[in-house]
Amino acid sequence: MTALETELEGRCGGELLESCMPVLETERLVLRVPRFEDVPAVVALANDRRIAEMTANLPHPYAAKDAETWIANAWTSQDHPLLITLKTNGALVGATGFVMPELGDPEIGYWLGTAHWGRGYATEAARAVVDHLFTDRGAEAVAARARVVNPASRRVIEKCGFQWIGAGLTRSRLLASSVPVDKFRLDRTLWASLKAWRDPILRRSAPKVLIGERS
Ligand SMILES: CC(C)(COP(=O)(O)OP(=O)(O)OC[C@H]1O[C@@H](n2cnc3c(N)ncnc32)[C@H](O)[C@@H]1OP(=O)(O)O)[C@@H](O)C(=O)NCCC(=O)NCCS
Repeated sequence: MTALETELEGRCGGELLESCMPVLETERLVLRVPRFEDVPAVVALANDRRIAEMTANLPHPYAAKDAETWIANAWTSQDHPLLITLKTNGALVGATGFVMPELGDPEIGYWLGTAHWGRGYATEAARAVVDHLFTDRGAEAVAARARVVNPASRRVIEKCGFQWIGAGLTRSRLLASSVPVDKFRLDRTLWASLKAWRDPILRRSAPKVLIGERS
């Protein structure tokens, strides 16, 4: 058992440990709680200004002690981070997760190492976290936000079905100032509709669209 697992067992109680530490699987990814042996891989990916400037709290430069603190606090506060790893070889590609505030909706977040951008991993991971929140944690709605200068994140949020609900300001640790953000929300009803549309059994019975096809 790792130091983190021992620590979590103390805080969660042995029999509850598993429910404290979900593993979420998607078609190409496995999302799991970070462990201390992940520190070098996390640092190698996260120590990049292009990531830090789009996230609220990621330090830059990002050192081993930052990863250790992040991992030590994982799942012991309101923050519930998960590493995004590839199903094929377990390689780390980024991180996702959610914040569970005492009041208000849980909010998702994510970042990927730059070498892994543009392959749909963030959308795949974010959808898994959203499904987890509605299915396993009884959320009635999920929140997300993105800097107005971050079209890639905005697109991920839209592809998950979130609706724009307004603008606001968020503190940026890197810039040491507040930055404009767009705020989004996905409620349970809309999520359930989207899931039904994506369900392969329901899709099979849907009519084929023939517009534009030649006979
Ligand atoms: C945001 C981030 C996670 C996206 O990761 P990703 O794996 O590339 O995301 P996906 O491939 O699932 O989807 C990205 C979408 O944005 C689109 N996109 C990327 N750059 C874009 C740009 N400059 N303008 C418009 N759309 C853009 C992509 O085309 C894709 O949409 P599509 O599938 O319709 O083509 C990644 O860029 C990142 O880690 N950025 C830094 C950290 C960050 O922004 N975190 C989110 C904080 S809110």
